Amino acid sequence: MSSADPSQRIASAVEAALADLSVAGDAAAVSAVANAATGKKGSLTALRRSLAEVDDAERRRDLGALLHHAMETVDSAAEQRRVALRRAAIDEQVARERWDLTETALRSAGQRRGRLHLVTQATERLEDVFVGLGFQVAEGPEVESDFYNFEALNMPPSHPARSMWDTLFVDTTETGSVVLRTHTSPVQIRVMQEWPPPIYAVMPGRVFRRDTPDATHMPVFHQIEGLVVDRGITFADLAGTIEAFTQAFFGRDFTSRLRPSYFPFTEPSAEFDIRRPDGTWIELGGCGMVHPSVLRAGGLDPLEWSGFAFGFGIDRMAKERHGVEDLRDMYSDDVRFTGQFP
Ligand code: PHE
Repeated sequence: MSSADPSQRIASAVEAALADLSVAGDAAAVSAVANAATGKKGSLTALRRSLAEVDDAERRRDLGALLHHAMETVDSAAEQRRVALRRAAIDEQVARERWDLTETALRSAGQRRGRLHLVTQATERLEDVFVGLGFQVAEGPEVESDFYNFEALNMPPSHPARSMWDTLFVDTTETGSVVLRTHTSPVQIRVMQEWPPPIYAVMPGRVFRRDTPDATHMPVFHQIEGLVVDRGITFADLAGTIEAFTQAFFGRDFTSRLRPSYFPFTEPSAEFDIRRPDGTWIELGGCGMVHPSVLRAGGLDPLEWSGFAFGFGIDRMAKERHGVEDLRDMYSDDVRFTGQFP
């Protein structure tokens, strides 16, 4: 190390590096400055090499420590500069890409409020009505096993009634063992398995069938299932509940009727219709007394418990309530359509 005061030379090398770093404009410039001080051919590295020429051992140690600290100072200043540059770049990008939402916010504070989809509105109103009648709300999975969608509902494999539902199968290891649920009835079984009776439950949700979309069909639609299990439940309770629901949901000038029908999981089974004030009828859904085999599949003793179930399409009800002519309009997400229903 040359005789000119080495500690002075270390100090000025550090000072120069720090000054250069403070004006380095990008990552490459930062690395260049750091290299010029602490890199292989850097000024501080050269000073460290020349330490060998210092004879006095104690002085050599002191200078070594000083150099070590100097190099650390430069390296950490370089790192800080890199971080600052990165942060500045992000700030700059954020400022550049910033959206002025003032206008949007002002408009939505006025008349342009978002609204819930018709089907969501209908589902929430249905839940409200049934909760008012003392029901609880439950949900089940949309991807179901064959067991819940069919077998537990009294339809063993190859039961002809399975063809009542145009089923979409999920491609899994065991062919046909997993389906997109074709109705909300599988949730009946899940609720029976989980909740101790008495059970008063409604189960809304999305269901799937292999249907071509038209004015009255969609391959994805919504149902709400109802299940009551208690002691001494009769068909009169079913009819009374359907009527109470009809009036609560549609209004006092509506009424309901049951027509004999068939479902494998209810016995007897019925179709239920509602009568509009103008005297015309529309079909709303299916219902019936829960079949003893279904109670057993749900883990309940049919000698002790009885119940009824019903299920109907929510989309069709929303369509009916709002006078929508084509179900497909409800899913086209055209604001000119959806905007009509506050
Ligand atoms: N799950 C039946 C359907 O999708 C409807 C239904 C539910 C019938 C409950 C009876 C009891 O058609």
